[in-house]
Amino acid sequence: MRAGKVVVAIPEERLTRRKGEMGFPINAIRYVLDEARVSVDELDLVCIANESALPFQKIYRRDTNFSVKDWIEQNEHVFFPKLTLNKEVTAFHDFDRYAARFDGVEKDPLYPFIEAARKEHPENYRVVAESIYLDVLACHFGISRDKVRFLNHEMCHKAYGLYSRPKRAKTALIFTSEGRGDYSSATVSTYQQGRINELWSSDKCTLGRLYKTVTVYLGMRPGHDEYKVMGLAPYGAPKKGREALDFFREIDSVNGLAIERLPFHKDLYFAMSHRLKGIRFDSIAWAVQEYIEEMLVEWVNNAIAQTGISEIVMSGGLAQNIKAMKRLAELDSVTSLWSGPATGDGSLGIGAAWLGTIELAKNDEVCELPDVFLGTLRDPGQEEIMQHVRELGFKCKVEPYKPRRVAELISDGKILATCRGRSEFGMRALGNTSIMADPRNAKTIVDINAKVKVRDFWMPFTPSVLENFIYDYIVPNSCEYSPYMTMAYDTVESQQSNIPAVIHPMDKTARPQFVTKKVCNKYYDEILEFRKITGVAAVLNTSFNMHGEPLVETIGQAFDVFSRTNIDALVFENHIVARD
Ligand SMILES: [Fe+2]
Repeated sequence: MRAGKVVVAIPEERLTRRKGEMGFPINAIRYVLDEARVSVDELDLVCIANESALPFQKIYRRDTNFSVKDWIEQNEHVFFPKLTLNKEVTAFHDFDRYAARFDGVEKDPLYPFIEAARKEHPENYRVVAESIYLDVLACHFGISRDKVRFLNHEMCHKAYGLYSRPKRAKTALIFTSEGRGDYSSATVSTYQQGRINELWSSDKCTLGRLYKTVTVYLGMRPGHDEYKVMGLAPYGAPKKGREALDFFREIDSVNGLAIERLPFHKDLYFAMSHRLKGIRFDSIAWAVQEYIEEMLVEWVNNAIAQTGISEIVMSGGLAQNIKAMKRLAELDSVTSLWSGPATGDGSLGIGAAWLGTIELAKNDEVCELPDVFLGTLRDPGQEEIMQHVRELGFKCKVEPYKPRRVAELISDGKILATCRGRSEFGMRALGNTSIMADPRNAKTIVDINAKVKVRDFWMPFTPSVLENFIYDYIVPNSCEYSPYMTMAYDTVESQQSNIPAVIHPMDKTARPQFVTKKVCNKYYDEILEFRKITGVAAVLNTSFNMHGEPLVETIGQAFDVFSRTNIDALVFENHIVARD
């Protein structure tokens, strides 16, 4: 980050090619320094987003390595004895049980923490962790200790939520909600006169953790598949989900600004296993979504009534729930609602860098995020393209790039993939690393599933829509600009039959990307040409990757996926490569 503007950002998973990578980001640090052509001596500050979190689970990469069975086993052998039987289960019981199962744990740069902490009292673990982080930065990168700042996790979420919004609100109410940060699982703050002031926080709120627990209970991977539970929710029937909803309502209650945990259930997973037995999976998904939404509505409404501020910023893991964001954005009491792209822990680094910027600049005026095209620049020349084409082993035609040609191929039912410009930060493909297809026919979904990746049958695809035609397709709510697909909207009834491939089949909502010429130049032109051919100002957009793999980052990876799938054509900065 230079003067409040992100110069380069990349998730570690794009470089290790392991989805959900959660180890120390040694490759990402090296990458951003190289890409920005900055030496460590030129760095003013190095900002780490955490003050007190311990790296036990980071070292054995729990979220990357665990299967659903591992999660269930951890509930049985670690959390159940600890929470329900009041047995002493230490962080080392957990670490030793799981670390041995996965390769490479000892090679993690933070592994010396484990050896050092074994000799210490748990009270000193934080000091040990801090010193290991400083050692790693000094040994691997030559970063001096006095430049390093450990910034509060919750503050990083708040800063990220606030400054990622394209048009900054002068005053705002900022909410964070997540599994657990440094000291809390939920907070409420105001932003006024350039300052964030926390009004309430608690580590007892279960909302963020609850979704994770339901995800395991339904046999899906927590930290990865929560969005699938959300996508399943509209299939559940309120009548059949009533019993599950009654159970969820026993977990927390809203009281003014506070969300308090009710005393009935010590261990969520086991309470759930007992009480939800026999209730169908879709009814449970409906009930958890309904419960989260009603809690958030009451919480946000109370805070608006108490502070008189109605510009809302949601941050932390739970803000990734686009349906809950929709419900909030539709409230009469809310003037505007914003949740940033990749608003879970993946964006904490940007929040931390903004806090570092404020420390140096003494104000927050320079903090901004005009777009999230912050990764690798892909602009291959003819020779590089031809080299890859020769290696493919099947015949392709190489044509010069033209937006009209892209639109023709899409309208002709072809599945295209783009790899151009700089890659997107976060999980969402926004036209530079996307798979594009025709939204007019529901058969497109079958084609993408057959040709590229098998999506769970209940999950909808999403549209990229030209911003100037957006309200032809969606019903406005208080989120007036959504360039990062972080918000769901109702769709205009008369258009639903025109774009069936990009609407949730049950509740008819969509999660659109608003496409502007300024941010997405070529993508905008392609959709405009598609509109001239078909009358529809939208295309289907899904991320360019194989199922279970991170987003494609390089030209080589684009050709690799092309060769392993039946994608019809690749779209580069200046070329189109189509199967002959
Ligand atoms: Fe977090």
